[in-house]
Amino acid sequence: MEKTFVMVKPDGVQRGLIGEIVSRFEKKGYQLVAAKLMSVSRELAEKHYAEHKEKPFFGELVDFITSGPVFAMVWQGQNVIAGARQMMGKTNPADAAPGTIRGDFGISVGMNIIHGSDSPESAEREINLWFGEQELITYDKTINKWIG
Ligand code: GTP
Ligand code: MG
Repeated sequence: MEKTFVMVKPDGVQRGLIGEIVSRFEKKGYQLVAAKLMSVSRELAEKHYAEHKEKPFFGELVDFITSGPVFAMVWQGQNVIAGARQMMGKTNPADAAPGTIRGDFGISVGMNIIHGSDSPESAEREINLWFGEQELITYDKTINKWIG
């Protein structure tokens, strides 16, 4: 089953949005397979955002993501990579539709509350970067047959 990496960024943790975000993913029907609250080293942040290394905001991005604890998760489900991105909304909360996480809770692009992998390749890379294999829990949920 498809998996994706989702992270509540430091602003989301500070604002008490972990529960709201986890709840939205649970209610959608996705299955949580790993989660941890953690502080982020500069090394991990730089690896995670390596694709943005040349961007003018790279330093700011690394400063921000290491500025406080994050809540890292792996979610599983049919088409969960694209589905999670839809639930998050556009990168800039100013463009994100109401009903999306960024649209409902964010204002500025620098502090946009949540991260989600943007492709199957990113999902695999990011899950392996943030979690060890033993941290991913395989289990059956009886409700899954009602979700599809
Ligand atoms: P992530 O899920 O965090 O990767 O967001 P995204 O995939 O929607 O956007 P992208 O990967 O293009 O950018 C990564 C992150 O960089 C964004 O989530 C923003 O927090 C940040 N970012 C993007 N553009 C800007 C910018 O112009 N200024 C600042 N300060 N941050 C930016
Ligand atoms: Mg991205």
